[in-house]
Amino acid sequence: MKYNACDVYLLQYNAARGRTQAGKRTRMVALELTLLVGTMTGTAQLVAQEVELTLDDGATRVQTKMMDGLDARAFANGGLFLICTSTYGQGDVPDNAKHLYEALQTARPDLSGVRYGVIALGDRTYAETFCNGGRRFDKILSELGARRIGEIMLHDASAGTMPEEIAVAWAADWIAQCRREAKLAA
Ligand SMILES: Cc1cc2nc3c(=O)[nH]c(=O)nc-3n(C[C@H](O)[C@H](O)[C@H](O)COP(=O)(O)O)c2cc1C
Repeated sequence: MKYNACDVYLLQYNAARGRTQAGKRTRMVALELTLLVGTMTGTAQLVAQEVELTLDDGATRVQTKMMDGLDARAFANGGLFLICTSTYGQGDVPDNAKHLYEALQTARPDLSGVRYGVIALGDRTYAETFCNGGRRFDKILSELGARRIGEIMLHDASAGTMPEEIAVAWAADWIAQCRREAKLAA
């Protein structure tokens, strides 16, 4: 069985041993999700850990990576990605995300095999640059041909809500949307 470009992120997980009622062989597939974390003081990392705990259930397999040291090759094989990043400076990506962000701008790879979501952490006190770290990744990924699934999750640190709680609820909806789209593409 071959996978087309649209369902490149649906990888065979486990060839099922049983048969369907119609007697056809079935396959179990898992969504393979790579969660990339950009953080300055650890909030995005905590959020990513909670999201991984929620989503990594066998039907979805999550690999979480800090962005430190990554470059455009992080996306070379296509697939499903979740960017989880805060914002610093004048609406910049955090320090550990800069190399990856700049590498994408320089190398400009074709990311048409990439599907992604964004969890953007920020603070509305910075009205002009609210959540720009996540928005910057969204912009460059879409410019390079990647397709976003769902809306960007925006968290406002001055709102008094816990980002990990908001993110866990958002991620459950997001992964359901990813599954629906994967089924349509299959
Ligand atoms: C020095 C500094 C600069 C910041 N700049 C922005 C900004 O421009 N826009 C924004 O939305 N949030 C900004 N923030 C808020 C952080 O993005 C937010 O607190 C986030 O939750 C921190 O996550 P982290 O611990 O993963 O880095 C800034 C915070 C600090 C301390």
